[in-house]
Amino acid sequence: MTKPPKILYDCDTGIDDAMTLLYLASLVQAGEAELTAVGTVHGNIDPVTGALNTLRVLEAAGIPVAGAGPDAGGQGVPVAVGAARPMAQDVHYALDWHGTDGLGDTHLPEPAGRPVSEPAPAQIVRLARETPGELTLLATGPLTNLGSALLLDHELPSLIREVVVMGGAFDHPGNITTHAEANIWHDPEAADLVFAADWPIVLVPLDATHPTAVHDDWLDRLAAHETPVARFAASILEFYADAYTPTLKRRGAVIHDALAAMLVVDPELGEYVQRPVRVELRGELTRGTTVWDARSLPADDTRRPVKVAVGSDVAAFQERLLSALLTF
Ligand code: BDR
Ligand code: CA
Repeated sequence: MTKPPKILYDCDTGIDDAMTLLYLASLVQAGEAELTAVGTVHGNIDPVTGALNTLRVLEAAGIPVAGAGPDAGGQGVPVAVGAARPMAQDVHYALDWHGTDGLGDTHLPEPAGRPVSEPAPAQIVRLARETPGELTLLATGPLTNLGSALLLDHELPSLIREVVVMGGAFDHPGNITTHAEANIWHDPEAADLVFAADWPIVLVPLDATHPTAVHDDWLDRLAAHETPVARFAASILEFYADAYTPTLKRRGAVIHDALAAMLVVDPELGEYVQRPVRVELRGELTRGTTVWDARSLPADDTRRPVKVAVGSDVAAFQERLLSALLTF
């Protein structure tokens, strides 16, 4: 039997990041993954609010967090705050999509736990050094923390098992500009550092995530479940579906980040192509766009090819996510 992956989750919590935390919590409880640590980054919201949201969600799911309760600093999952701004541009948040609190304006009470004092990029480097070759970095926000960790430790790529990123758009329109996807557009320089590094990357772009949109039937099945976690998930998705309905032209929501998490544990649910990826850094209309080299080999690009998900088993994704949410 293969060992459950040790996941360090870097996120900008955020509604679909919150759904992903619930999915990861269900894997932890089933012994199918270890959640080694979480780091937060600017993106949907500022990283301090994102860290407090992360603590709220983990606590709701019954996952012990470091720094909570009488044995503060104990064995729980550490939640570290990371970069508050991108490397080379102004910061932008996505409050229209995620609410002014990042969780669909649910305005939940303060969590019991607190973020740890170590910054998220330093946490990545330390944990990679402590468990060489074991850590999977799952990133579903802008890539500033991963880019900063690469700048802190040039040996980082050799210490990481795999990097799985939700971001980018290739044969799919952008969702923040005509061509760019939000996570990459929020920090194009950091994203390009990550794609340039010599480590195994799985990239999960809009091409793969958009077709997984859930609609009324799925949302109604979740809402019919009377547990506190299902009620919380249904309430934040209510806000997200309101934001998504004009784009999808029917009621529904795209839970992008959860697909990336599911492909960590069930890679066979995805269809992939292997291509070098770069980020457009200078285009007036295209800054933040992901560009792949789709020409037939030999490619000019010397970058290590990225495994890009171009599709997935949508029905399996939707059923597995719903069953995970109903286990609490
Ligand atoms: C990505 O952008 C964010 O708003 C979501 O949380 C997701 O990570 C989708 O483009
Ligand atoms: Ca996100």
